[in-house]
Amino acid sequence: MKKILSVFLAALLLAVSLAAPSFAMTQTEWDAYLSSEADADDGIIIQPGADGTQKNFSWYAPAETEQVAVLLSTSPDLAGARAFPGKTIRTYQGDKAAKVTVTDLRPGVTYYYACQTDGVNSDVYSFSTAAADRFSALYVTDIHVSETEDPAELSRTALKFNEVVTQAQTKADLSYILSAGDQASSGLRSEYVAMTAGQAQKSLTFALTMGNHDRKGVDYKYFKNLPNESVKFVSDYQTGDYWFAQNDVLFLFLDSNSGSGADHRAAMKAAVRSHPNARWRVAVMHHDLYSSAIPHRESETKLMRLLWSPLFDEFNIDLALLGHSHYYSVTNVLYNGKGTMAVENGGTVTNAPGTVYMVSTSLTRPRGEEPAFSDKVAIGLTEDLTRTLYNIVDFSKNAITVRTYDFGTGELFASYTLEKTDDFSPKTINLFRKIMGFISAAIGTVYAWFNNFHVYSNLKEKGYDVDLMDAVNNNFLSEGETVC
Ligand SMILES: [Fe+2]
Repeated sequence: MKKILSVFLAALLLAVSLAAPSFAMTQTEWDAYLSSEADADDGIIIQPGADGTQKNFSWYAPAETEQVAVLLSTSPDLAGARAFPGKTIRTYQGDKAAKVTVTDLRPGVTYYYACQTDGVNSDVYSFSTAAADRFSALYVTDIHVSETEDPAELSRTALKFNEVVTQAQTKADLSYILSAGDQASSGLRSEYVAMTAGQAQKSLTFALTMGNHDRKGVDYKYFKNLPNESVKFVSDYQTGDYWFAQNDVLFLFLDSNSGSGADHRAAMKAAVRSHPNARWRVAVMHHDLYSSAIPHRESETKLMRLLWSPLFDEFNIDLALLGHSHYYSVTNVLYNGKGTMAVENGGTVTNAPGTVYMVSTSLTRPRGEEPAFSDKVAIGLTEDLTRTLYNIVDFSKNAITVRTYDFGTGELFASYTLEKTDDFSPKTINLFRKIMGFISAAIGTVYAWFNNFHVYSNLKEKGYDVDLMDAVNNNFLSEGETVC
């Protein structure tokens, strides 16, 4: 009787919350929602496909699972659904994770889907593909969904993320979430599952990159389903760089935990070659490069700038969306680490000769100390540091506009626009910098190989039963590969 009553209450709370999707849930409603989620919905995430016509799906499935598929239809009741079969990989916990790619998606269409595990369907969810001429994304970083000794913390941090996504959906018709790392504080499966539990998260394409905290566990490796995942020389234990295109934008998601410059260079080159006519190039990675907000990290960051600055210049990255420092900052346009054009709050930069580097606040872990921003920072958060900011990025053929909102008030905090005219021509890196970039990249690759031993010993210390060659070799999972 007690169980029936609790299921009824959970269903009632869910119905109330679904009736008003733009309103945030209370903690009690959220907890009831989480506990009511069916096993068939465990860990469902939509990730980018290779381009706007594809999406990659992932979810968890029992160990004995034989067949998985995504059912896709333009009708809410899944009438006439097309079934896209997929594959499974063995997870660290011994059950399976389903990996499915759906194809032939048309722009500006709402699709309904269910994830099917051996004939058992999840709930029906929906997503809308981007329009052919414009789309918007939510850019956040350092979500830090956290499982700690306090059991309430996991739910609290996941709810905060759910609230941010829900509020962001009132500011734009979102297609993507761009997340610059530290999605999870300890890299635990429970953290990733809680992060993606909300209805809103299952309706958006979630493009994420690995942060140093995601690297504390092993579950990022099994949770993701990434397109064009690349490794040539030395991979990180869990992931490689990857890329995808949407309309006029080429997105490069780079794993800055890995110092392997030769791998990063190879991935960026392949990405640019695969989409030579993309008008915009947007990089997303974890480490803050130019804000200098945290003085004691500057020696490490200087080394990272040696590695990344030549790459960002050589491949003409327009906008870099970063994280790690947890301090909101937007730089002026930089090339070779020097300012080439000013960025102003509310302003427009036309034909930027270089890259704008941006960092947003952590969604759940604000810093307490005042940031020591460098003079490269054009817009920064320096007061009321406990505020949570999030960002709507609007993409069209000729412009990228970033609008930053204060989560507490819902008010606009800052904005800027990058614009390109038809006669725009990007800068060309000079030969000396290119050679220096090659040298830095090669040194980084040697360092990365040795650093993987360090990652391996850290995982062993934490009690993970991982294999040495998995940790030091190019042994991250690719789609369809089964690793026990
Ligand atoms: Fe972080």
